[in-house]
Amino acid sequence: MRMVEEQPTPQTMPFTVRPMAAEDIAQSAEVERDAFPTLFPPTSFRRELSNKRARYLVAQRLDGNGAAPPPRGPQQRHDPLFNRLVRQIWRRRGSGWAPGQDFITGFVGIWYMVDEAHIVAIGVRSAYRGLGVGELMLIASIEQALEMDARVVTLEVRVSNLVAQNLYKKFGFTERGVRKGYYTDNREDAFIMTTDPVQSDPFGERFTRLVGEHRHRWGEAERKLF
Ligand SMILES: CC(C)(COP(=O)(O)OP(=O)(O)OC[C@H]1O[C@@H](n2cnc3c(N)ncnc32)[C@H](O)[C@@H]1OP(=O)(O)O)[C@@H](O)C(=O)NCCC(=O)NCCS
Repeated sequence: MRMVEEQPTPQTMPFTVRPMAAEDIAQSAEVERDAFPTLFPPTSFRRELSNKRARYLVAQRLDGNGAAPPPRGPQQRHDPLFNRLVRQIWRRRGSGWAPGQDFITGFVGIWYMVDEAHIVAIGVRSAYRGLGVGELMLIASIEQALEMDARVVTLEVRVSNLVAQNLYKKFGFTERGVRKGYYTDNREDAFIMTTDPVQSDPFGERFTRLVGEHRHRWGEAERKLF
């Protein structure tokens, strides 16, 4: 009989979610170029941050506090000279991140229109995918939508984007229609995917279960929604 070794559940996920701030714009643009390489024109995050209908959240890598650092990405040291040198190197390499700053691994944008929370973009740096970060940001978006009294959460997704569709279906989004030729780069169609009413008991029960499963698999993660 093969013994399956049980992996210990991490206590704390090495990522947190918080509102996007002006200091995060350069890195968010970098995440956008990585996650949506054909998007044109790029999002004006500066304008979006002053858009009253929009809320942007970022996933930030958590260094220290006893959490194991994630496997990839820049490391920081508390040595000002070292940090200054690394900052210069990163800037020369065109990186939006510099030592001393939070490291942003993903972002999500939500527009609130009438009674709908519309996810306009959700993206994770390619080096950080498959680590539960996209799901964490979707959880935070739904929690925010609940607090904003939205009735449903909705979005568009490329018909070919099965990875994102899997994530949305997991959280109860279903296809409600098609926007023909929605994407300007290749005229690809978009599925409109929408949740059932998020304030309903069945949605709430499923959502609570999924949040618990995420916590059990990836660890506790702080989510600051506003
Ligand atoms: C879609 C995206 C945000 C997912 O982020 P992520 O951090 O890699 O996803 P997670 O690790 O949190 O995985 C959550 C769920 O997504 C789905 N998923 C993630 N990676 C997947 C893969 N390689 N294949 C199939 N499904 C996948 C699964 O449903 C997964 O849940 P599971 O682990 O229980 O199966 C990320 O792939 C991304 O940024 N893609 C490019 C931008 C994009 O397409 N955005 C969506 C536009 S609508």
